[in-house]
Amino acid sequence: MKNITIAIDGFSSTGKSTIAKQLANKLLYVYVDSGAMYRAVTLYAMQHNIISKDNFYVDKLISDLENINLLFKFNSSLGFAEMYLNNVNVEKEIRTLEVSNYVSKVAEVSEVRKKLVEQQQQMGINKGVVMDGRDIGTVVFPNAELKFFINASAEKRAQRRFDELIERGDKVTFKEILNNVQHRDHIDSTREDSPLINAEDAIEIDNSDMSLEEQFDLIYKIVLGKINII
Ligand code: CDP
Repeated sequence: MKNITIAIDGFSSTGKSTIAKQLANKLLYVYVDSGAMYRAVTLYAMQHNIISKDNFYVDKLISDLENINLLFKFNSSLGFAEMYLNNVNVEKEIRTLEVSNYVSKVAEVSEVRKKLVEQQQQMGINKGVVMDGRDIGTVVFPNAELKFFINASAEKRAQRRFDELIERGDKVTFKEILNNVQHRDHIDSTREDSPLINAEDAIEIDNSDMSLEEQFDLIYKIVLGKINII
């Protein structure tokens, strides 16, 4: 079977990473969670007092970019790669609501995007990759053979993220998660550099009322159809 590139974009908490991981496992492809990279840069900025509730020292972040080393390391017991920031496993820390509250500001910075996009393109150079994010089908891999754009109602998305965070023991309220989801949607889709938009050739899927199995079956069928005609 020929290896292809699969781009999965969409609004926050639409379950892009779940479907991307499932596809990668089934197809034996590499899975790349591009959001984890923006989250790790954000964590760095928080740890170095570059971003806080009152300040965002963009120039300092830009000049520190060369000191930020991001690496995905595959964890065979989990079945996916975890994010390392300067050789420290930050997989859990990057998923907090605090990081979510700052990440879209960091992701607006063109210099940050440039560095991460280059790394992402490098990871997909041999194809056989499923990457999820906001600009994968438009900027990172505009020539991807298959592009999906996933959406769901803001309430459904916030509920899913809320359940996830509560399950791992974080103390959050539904209201703050909903606010975060809506706020990030707004920044991500209105920013100047690489806004979240539906690529013209992307297949749009609203999974508000779909189970994980239904979603997987639908997408996997489309993927097999594509791989078989190439
Ligand atoms: O919370 P969710 O899993 O939906 O988001 P994520 O995929 O972890 O991405 C976190 C944030 O990183 C997004 O809200 C965007 O601001 C930014 N991002 C981006 O700008 N471009 C990407 N390719 C991926 C993420």
